[in-house]
Amino acid sequence: MSGNREIIDVADGDALAKTAAERLLARITPGGERPAIALTGGSSPEGLYRLLAQEPYRSRIPWQRVHWFIGDDRFVPPDDPLSNMGMARRLFLDRVNAPAANVHPVPTTAATPQAAARLYESDLQRFYGSERLDPARPLFDLVLMGLGPDGHTASLFPGAPALEEKERWVVGVDKAHVAPFVPRVTLTFPALASTREMLFLVSGEDKRDILARVLAGEDLPAARAHCEGKLVWLVDRAALPRRSAA
Ligand code: 6PG
Repeated sequence: MSGNREIIDVADGDALAKTAAERLLARITPGGERPAIALTGGSSPEGLYRLLAQEPYRSRIPWQRVHWFIGDDRFVPPDDPLSNMGMARRLFLDRVNAPAANVHPVPTTAATPQAAARLYESDLQRFYGSERLDPARPLFDLVLMGLGPDGHTASLFPGAPALEEKERWVVGVDKAHVAPFVPRVTLTFPALASTREMLFLVSGEDKRDILARVLAGEDLPAARAHCEGKLVWLVDRAALPRRSAA
């Protein structure tokens, strides 16, 4: 695990959402002309997404400038309840009328997860203006991440070949390791790492054991996540491993 890691513990899910919203704002207000954020799926970011559609965040976010990507998605139709970008749209992007051109979903209407991954990679490369990632010029301003019960993050599952990917920015994943058992499309570690900040959101008691293993450096996907910028684990008290509790 990289040395730029910081763990921030907060009281509960509400405080987690608020702290994440403040960090998001801090990353985009001074950002360049087109700040880029990679969202995450799962239940952990729901509170944050709801908050972004409410004041004061709604008025403080420069919606015309910010571009929204997704770190991974389920290979389901865009309006399927399982869609990660669909969830982000319902909870905030549609509510604030984010410009359509600023929202970058994985094209899950493609024939296969692999084809969708190629198309998404092209979208990211077009946005970035190059097919090569330059460590001095991160792709994202903020990448949000979650922690799965098996230690996965994005759709990078334990033992999967995608964990070793060094060239591709996005890959298709035919089999998920945990529910929902639908194919996925996921950014790879090198693409996720190209960010000024990577922010893990971890909440609830059922995350405590797996978080303890990740923080102890066990070889789990989430423990392999790294980034060019700051790596922050935002954790609520219920999820905080006991021995690291203050
Ligand atoms: C997904 C996610 C996944 C998620 C973790 C945590 O598509 O399921 O992107 O990586 O972030 O599984 O999920 P919870 O927040 O629901 O615990």
